[in-house]
Amino acid sequence: MPGPKTPCRVCVVGVGAVGQELLRVLRQRRFPASQLTVLARSARDISVDGAAYRVQAISEKALQGQAIVLFAGTEGEKGAAVTFSPAAIRSGAVCIDNGSDFRMKPEVPLVIPEVNAGDLKNHKGLIANPNCSTIQMVAALAPIHRAFGLKRIIVSTYQAASGAGSKAAESLLTETSCLLADKPVPAPQALPQQLGFNVFPQIGPFEELGYTSEEWKMVRETQKILHDETIAITATTVRVPVLDAHSESIYFETVKPAGVGGIKDLWRASPGIALVEEPEYPMPIQAAHRDEVFVGRLRPDPKIENAFACWVVSDNLRKGAALNAVQIAECLIKPSP
Ligand SMILES: NC(=O)c1ccc[n+]([C@@H]2O[C@H](COP(=O)([O-])OP(=O)(O)OC[C@H]3O[C@@H](n4cnc5c(N)ncnc54)[C@H](OP(=O)(O)O)[C@@H]3O)[C@@H](O)[C@H]2O)c1
Repeated sequence: MPGPKTPCRVCVVGVGAVGQELLRVLRQRRFPASQLTVLARSARDISVDGAAYRVQAISEKALQGQAIVLFAGTEGEKGAAVTFSPAAIRSGAVCIDNGSDFRMKPEVPLVIPEVNAGDLKNHKGLIANPNCSTIQMVAALAPIHRAFGLKRIIVSTYQAASGAGSKAAESLLTETSCLLADKPVPAPQALPQQLGFNVFPQIGPFEELGYTSEEWKMVRETQKILHDETIAITATTVRVPVLDAHSESIYFETVKPAGVGGIKDLWRASPGIALVEEPEYPMPIQAAHRDEVFVGRLRPDPKIENAFACWVVSDNLRKGAALNAVQIAECLIKPSP
């Protein structure tokens, strides 16, 4: 399907953590929009970094005539993308969804532009943005997969509160200030447990074999993006009291012989990846509000050949959501060679 001609009408659905970041990224990257429409459940005026936006209540009518619709609403049957993307596509829009509702549908491309932009050519009006923890892991491992193959990945995540939405980030701040003031901590609402001064190994509901939905997303989405179902992946996803930027401890085994120097060279040559060399290492306080996927602490397994451990940090709202979605939109408007 050909992409829209620019400048084109762009619509952002949702003005929570990801929606506001989308507005910021569109502005920072000077996306060529002839008109920008902002929709959410209720109408109001908002300001993002000093720029004012009029938010309209979502309706099928408001989606008519849009060329690109970036969905950052809630997920599920009653969520924004499930309810409204069919009407937007019928009226000619290409929809890019940040949620998980369509990611595993075979007809929906699941895209990280630096990794599999080629999959965009087969879209049928809907493109899915991968999960935030999947994006940073796959962005870091894709060059290694391409050069050496990957047979095994074991990942443990350290995920920021904003990954569960703006209310979860606010409740981390409230809980922390209550704890510091020795006041009672309100019962958790946006998250399953108290996050202030705590960590917990549950992101999403528990599913098959005792893994959570977030853990299954990391397995299935990685295999889909890399077009490789042979990679054995085990994930443990953990929420930590950090506001922005997820960290990941990743162990991986390559199919072909590989070495630390060769992997670092691949990372140095990969767009979007920033190698942080020892004695430094990436941390959320440095990665927050940045575009790069930061990689570091690469070391060989002492006993197993072609096995390595590394540490990957990236802003879940930027490369993990808004930036990746806008990069997909940029691919769509790029004239074909
Ligand atoms: N947070 C992350 O790091 C991250 C990363 C990757 C993907 N995602 C995905 O991105 C999506 C948005 O996440 P978020 O963290 O930004 O959530 P959020 O902070 O809770 O914000 C949700 C926004 O969606 C709007 N909304 C909800 N239902 C809607 C509907 N039916 N129609 C129109 N608007 C609707 C809400 O409108 P009102 O403000 O009017 O209530 C709100 O502005 C989710 O699917 C999430 O899984 C999030």
